[in-house]
Amino acid sequence: MATSIELRPLRHGEAGGLSRLLWRAFEHDPLFRHLFRSRWYAGRVVPLLFGARVRDALRHGCIDVAGAGGPPLATAIWLSPGHFPPTARRILAGLPAYLAVATLFLDRLPDLWRLTEGTAIVADEPHWHLEYLAVDPNRQGQGVGSRVLNAGLRRADDAAFACGLTTSNERNLALYRRFGFEVRDESQPFRDGPPIWSMWRPAAALRADAGPEPGAPGENRPIRSRGR
Ligand SMILES: CC(C)(COP(=O)(O)OP(=O)(O)OC[C@H]1O[C@@H](n2cnc3c(N)ncnc32)[C@H](O)[C@@H]1OP(=O)(O)O)[C@@H](O)C(=O)NCCC(=O)NCCS
Repeated sequence: MATSIELRPLRHGEAGGLSRLLWRAFEHDPLFRHLFRSRWYAGRVVPLLFGARVRDALRHGCIDVAGAGGPPLATAIWLSPGHFPPTARRILAGLPAYLAVATLFLDRLPDLWRLTEGTAIVADEPHWHLEYLAVDPNRQGQGVGSRVLNAGLRRADDAAFACGLTTSNERNLALYRRFGFEVRDESQPFRDGPPIWSMWRPAAALRADAGPEPGAPGENRPIRSRGR
């Protein structure tokens, strides 16, 4: 069964739901599992962090969502060129989450700080920074993430900007490579934590593959559905 997926900006009043979608998508992410050892606790604190990031991107970037007529099923959260790394701004915005972490997991606070600093990416060049890409777990692996990612990449290409991101999940490297990203750096910034990969996608004029993205789904490709 083909499901029609619409790409659109975030609507007024959807920010809270988006934080919960982010948490469902990242619940098993290696980095969040490292930072928060208790799943119960993480389920309460991480959405606070996501809420701060969503509000920040609403002011300093772009939030694309994909839906099927209802609430967002997927999102790509971007910071616009010149707004990364916004360390001081992030700490202020995420203060409730930092305080919550400090009360229970004091030893994880330095790692949270490093995360806030932007982990391993070092990019002096202005670029669109992908903060989060997330798909509802029930809809993963059906091309929805590729569609919502592609919308932001086109925006960057149209304005001749590069793109950057970090990920702690090795499986994601193949996805991003299909869209022209390359690994710039692999680091181990967290004590006993997962590796972090920084990926970079040069501006269109500097990419050999510029033009239609190799492996990117076409605009009219039907989205695979599990028939839910
Ligand atoms: C990563 C993610 C956004 C991809 O969106 P998607 O709609 O599932 O992916 P698509 O169907 O467009 O493309 C599939 C590719 O995504 C990658 N992928 C990563 N995690 C995946 C997952 N849980 N399920 C399916 N694909 C996944 C793989 O490279 C996969 O290609 P493969 O099937 O050849 O291995 C989505 O799976 C997700 O939300 N994962 C959890 C959060 C996350 O890791 N976000 C990225 C942080 S940088």
